[in-house]
Amino acid sequence: MIYPDLNVSEKPQSETKRPFLPDIIYGGDYNPEQWSPETWEEDARLMQEAGVNMVSLAIFSWALLEPKPGQYDFGWLDTILDLLNKHGIKVNLATATASPPPWLAKLHPESLPVTKEGVIWWPGGRQQYCPSSPAYRDGAANLVRLIAERYQNHPALAMWHINNEYGCHVAECFCDQSARSFREWLKRRYGSIEALNGAWATAFWSQHYSEWDEINPPRSAPTYANPTQQLDFKRFSSDALLECFLMERQILKEITPDVPVTTNFLGFLKPVNYWQWSKNEDVIALDSYPDPTDEHSIMEAAMTYDLNRSMAAGKPWVIMEQVTSQVNWRPQNVLKRPGQMRLLSYQAVGRGANGIMFFQWRQSRAGAEKYHGAMVPHIGTTNSRVWREVTALGAELNSLSKIKDSSHKNEVAIVFDWESWWALELDSKPSADIKMMDQLKSYYETLFKQNVNIDFVRPDSDLTPYKVVLLPNLYMVSEENARNIESYVAGGGHVVMSFFSGIVNENEHIYLGGYGAPFRKMLGLQVQEFDPYRPGQTNRLCLDQDTDNPEAEGWLFDCNLWSDLIHLEGAETLARYEQDFYKTQPALTRHHFGKGVAYYLGTHAEPAFMDWLLAKVTREAGVTPAPNVPGGVEVTTRRNEDAAYRFFLNHNSHSIEIKLDTPARDVLTNTLYIESFILEGYGVAILTQPPTPGEK
Ligand code: GLA
Repeated sequence: MIYPDLNVSEKPQSETKRPFLPDIIYGGDYNPEQWSPETWEEDARLMQEAGVNMVSLAIFSWALLEPKPGQYDFGWLDTILDLLNKHGIKVNLATATASPPPWLAKLHPESLPVTKEGVIWWPGGRQQYCPSSPAYRDGAANLVRLIAERYQNHPALAMWHINNEYGCHVAECFCDQSARSFREWLKRRYGSIEALNGAWATAFWSQHYSEWDEINPPRSAPTYANPTQQLDFKRFSSDALLECFLMERQILKEITPDVPVTTNFLGFLKPVNYWQWSKNEDVIALDSYPDPTDEHSIMEAAMTYDLNRSMAAGKPWVIMEQVTSQVNWRPQNVLKRPGQMRLLSYQAVGRGANGIMFFQWRQSRAGAEKYHGAMVPHIGTTNSRVWREVTALGAELNSLSKIKDSSHKNEVAIVFDWESWWALELDSKPSADIKMMDQLKSYYETLFKQNVNIDFVRPDSDLTPYKVVLLPNLYMVSEENARNIESYVAGGGHVVMSFFSGIVNENEHIYLGGYGAPFRKMLGLQVQEFDPYRPGQTNRLCLDQDTDNPEAEGWLFDCNLWSDLIHLEGAETLARYEQDFYKTQPALTRHHFGKGVAYYLGTHAEPAFMDWLLAKVTREAGVTPAPNVPGGVEVTTRRNEDAAYRFFLNHNSHSIEIKLDTPARDVLTNTLYIESFILEGYGVAILTQPPTPGEK
């Protein structure tokens, strides 16, 4: 079995020598094996008609490529690759390891995943493998090598698509092999059993271990499993999947060092720490399925795109999958309205994406996803609204090569850390209602509505490019990362941190001497106690002083979930609690520290308060004001050396007039707007400034 180096990215990344990828990628998952060869010719012709320039191929093809152990059939794939090449369509060729064939389970039943309750997950769906299984890893490695050797020089090959949505269905496995691999992982992390006993605080509840093989994954237990054991198992499980990815990557880079590799991410997928993966991707790829019935989904999609652009850190990122019309896996699968598919595609492009792809090219006739929309729907291409929208978008995107090297340059960042998320939501906490995503969104949504564009960063990132850094619930933080944040403020940065931050170290041991101890100097305060609320309980915040706006004094806002009881050590009070025994005590504070300013919010406040607070902080920090547009209009800006491309997206179904400060040209219609323009319902405009003299 291959154990790849988890830090493989520290080695120099290979240089991409030939331009493999189209400037703006357009296409989708192509599953020709579900269709007879007569359809293949038609597919290739229709792809050209739709402006498709790349498809993802063979994602779920292991069982057809290797129908029996060691017996292969690559003939159909050869034909498809040649056909696509003849039509000028590039291929994002999958390694086909996402769904092992049933024979693997028959030969190696121990390769099947097991839940914490001991339930085995059988073949018949997909992704039924234990990430630590030697049989799975060996079988996958063998197949990847064969595919890479066979197609390494194929002219259609543009990119390698490793596996598919790691961790989507099986993110953790509790089988005996996983237990053995977990012990090996723990040995590498701690070196000695005594170090592990210290980190896991096994003096508590008689949990002391004398031998490594006494240790197991946190399987179902009578009560709370050891929190550090749970946390380490989450780290291990994310790493086990990462090892699978790196194992494939290593083989591909050995055979085709210059072909870019990717795997498709799922946004804020809790079990998989994508920060560790992104440095080993040449292209960041995201699958995006916002729920059209959820009013927050547009904001959530934007947040996910910002995360992916931030992870790409200058490399390209693409939408690898979205749907043209409707998915099949929600209780009710509502259609995207006419124009919405285009609009939501441009939302990703506006946030830096250089590719729009779909699941899938041709809608399946059978199988679990037959009701999932596609580029070629069941009705066919004649008389099809979906097809008309697909071909129109393809033509438009193909004309946008000039934006490919542009990206965001943002002044505000949010610190987001997967491990802290895991730790925050372990069981036996002061409140089960503190959820990372809710707290993150209370910040993100506020600035999204204000059209302030945001990057995501890690706690150890260089924060100095940003004027404001937001820290929603950074519950777990190392001393080193706390110093990174502190020195950012000392150097002139502005931070806003909220309650239940800086509470524990990497082992989930409390920092003693007042909560938030690692940030005590920076915040100029100590949290002495916290008071989680009962469901439905609220309190109020009363503004104490606001140097920008003296009239704001006395304004009242609702808060809920939690109150920190704050003891000031240099910070000033900006808002106080209105009720309870801590009435009049500080709830929002500000502390000038070094050349910067640190705000601290001890509760979860209503959106109007967050709006006031973040507008105040961004103004104070000198963040460039966002354009003033009507509600429901999203504005994002991509820049390169030549131009700024400002995307205006109207998420309303009705048209809206947008006023301009200076004339600007819409690159989609090549129309120059002088003072204002009308954006149709679900409409998109991409404006550049300044206009080229002499043009229309
Ligand atoms: C995921 C998978 C695809 C398909 C789609 C359906 O994104 O990667 O294979 O199942 O979901 O929405």
